Amino acid sequence: MGYFWRPMSHQFSIEPTTDRSEIYRQLLPQVEALLSTEPDTIANMANLCSVLKEHLRFLWVGFYLVKNDELVLGPFQGPVACTRIAKGKGVCGTAWEKNETILVPDVDEFPGHIACSPLSRSEIVIPLADDEGNVWAVLDVDSLVNDDFSPEDTRHLSEMLKWIKPQTNS
Ligand code: SME
Repeated sequence: MGYFWRPMSHQFSIEPTTDRSEIYRQLLPQVEALLSTEPDTIANMANLCSVLKEHLRFLWVGFYLVKNDELVLGPFQGPVACTRIAKGKGVCGTAWEKNETILVPDVDEFPGHIACSPLSRSEIVIPLADDEGNVWAVLDVDSLVNDDFSPEDTRHLSEMLKWIKPQTNS
């Protein structure tokens, strides 16, 4: 018997496939089981980063949280990243300012892109807004290859993000 550290209730089971939409489809109910009953925002962000990094092999998956009118690094998986991003700066700050998902097929073509890792080639940033429409966090996913994100990623990632809610208690 090999070393196995994950709680049995949270083993993720994915059939071998290279089709990303199929992986998202298989992950979704398992992500729901993992996140939907847990009220802690940071814990859920951390686990979602882990799931996406492990199963979809992205370079970097992480959250930035709005704190005192800037983005501050939250839970992530991947290389060390910049800690703070101002509103309107980079892809993350722009997605926050516009409250819009941004897909960047080639980071070299995005004016003001913040290169936390030189290995990042394309990127998607999805803002998370509260019930009043105020952005309180963004999800940033970086890929090792150009043109790696499509509206399908937006759709599947947004489905998973519905279980990431602003913290309501301390
Ligand atoms: N590239 C992002 C910065 C965050 S890192 O990629 C993790 C941006 O331009 O906002």
